[in-house]
Amino acid sequence: MSQDAYRLKRPDGTETELPVRKGTIGPDVIDIATLYRDHGVFTYDPGFVATGSCESDITFIDGEKGVLMYRGYPVEQLAAHSSFIEVSYLLLYGNLPTATELAEFDNMIRRHTMLNEGMLAFFKGFRYDAHPMAMLSAVVGSMSAYYHKEMDASNEEHRNIFAHRILAKLPTIAAAAYKLNTGQPFIYPRNDLNYCENLLHMLFAVPAEPYKIDPVAAEALDLLFILHADHEQNCSTSTVRMAGSSGANPYSAIAAGISALWGPAHGGANEAVLEMLEEIGDVSQIGKYVEKAKNKNDPFRLMGFGHRVYKNFDPRATIIRDMCHKVLQRLDRKDTPLFDLAQELEQVALKDDYFIEKNLYPNVDFYSGIIYKALGIPTSMFTVMFALGRSVGWAAHWREMISDPKGKIARPRQLYTGPAARDYTPINKR
Ligand code: ACO
Repeated sequence: MSQDAYRLKRPDGTETELPVRKGTIGPDVIDIATLYRDHGVFTYDPGFVATGSCESDITFIDGEKGVLMYRGYPVEQLAAHSSFIEVSYLLLYGNLPTATELAEFDNMIRRHTMLNEGMLAFFKGFRYDAHPMAMLSAVVGSMSAYYHKEMDASNEEHRNIFAHRILAKLPTIAAAAYKLNTGQPFIYPRNDLNYCENLLHMLFAVPAEPYKIDPVAAEALDLLFILHADHEQNCSTSTVRMAGSSGANPYSAIAAGISALWGPAHGGANEAVLEMLEEIGDVSQIGKYVEKAKNKNDPFRLMGFGHRVYKNFDPRATIIRDMCHKVLQRLDRKDTPLFDLAQELEQVALKDDYFIEKNLYPNVDFYSGIIYKALGIPTSMFTVMFALGRSVGWAAHWREMISDPKGKIARPRQLYTGPAARDYTPINKR
């Protein structure tokens, strides 16, 4: 057997070899692209637990060691020294920008923040209590109607403008959805403010009085966006890649990603964590809820716990827990019952055999909702905030996917378990 091949035994006892490919770091992959053509079998891997769907240069995760790197830079270093806009440049273009490149990029994003007025009119069609994730997905999808003719995926400049528009306009759309829910007038973006200051301004300013931006809130949002910016082939990113692989308009592909993110097993978990903490209500109830989470016959799960890839700890959760502590202190919150409850719940679960055996640890969403709540952001907007951070990752992956010369339409196969061939029965004979 050659060194870089995997030996496969056929049912008739003969053997064949499948090529093995090596990444820069991380596990090798067995290249099975010719398996069906040469051997007549498919692979079966529901949920893609052992399947690499593409080659990617963007993000690396080592789930055993709790490592997350964007373009090779550890997320802890980026969280400590960088900004969301700089991280966005890094994810999109592969390297940290020079001072001039960063200034140009920042200026570009600031200058794309406004929405076409016609797009704003869409919001009049939603009910006052429409979920903001539904509005985000619908209005981002509608961007494909505005930017269709001028979106040629083979044109690099068009691909860049798409990424800039997604990054720049999503906060404006998110804020418009929030304003609809609150019954307040829409607030236009201010390009003199940085990314997170502008978001806070659009969310919380009202025409009747001046709004003072809290630098602690802007800093906390910036950190959360850095930590959410990308996470390799997660459910929503894979959705963006899959939808985009057919050559669909990329704004529609992002809308599909937003829909995938909304589920409680993915980005919707931050909303679910807060609801769960409020339901638990008091430390005296923790034991009861931990038992419910362990009970196979009870659908209750500890939201914000467990991860498909991290089996030791989620490095983002550690950073967010520290930030949560800082934000609550700096906002002078003496009374922090939800944070105290979350910390106690974490401690109880981490010492419990069930969670230890199954390698279940707090994930990125366990503490993020507590920060959002402290900043005055309502629960229904939590997953929207996640989407704002992840939007740049989606755009980076779409650009990578569409420029990959080996790219194909994503089209998995299946193990068919339905009826074998049978004859049509006329309706009067059934
Ligand atoms: N509470 C209780 N038990 C759990 C939990 C949990 N939060 N998470 C997993 N388990 C158990 C499962 O019941 C299963 O037990 P079994 O082996 O006896 O059947 C085992 O741990 C493995 O869980 P799976 O669901 O098979 O693991 P998978 O990798 O498919 O799912 C997921 C990962 C979806 C994150 C899961 O841990 C979960 O539902 N967590 C709660 C929701 C959540 O926090 N999602 C956010 C993820 S992070 C993100 O997307 C940003």
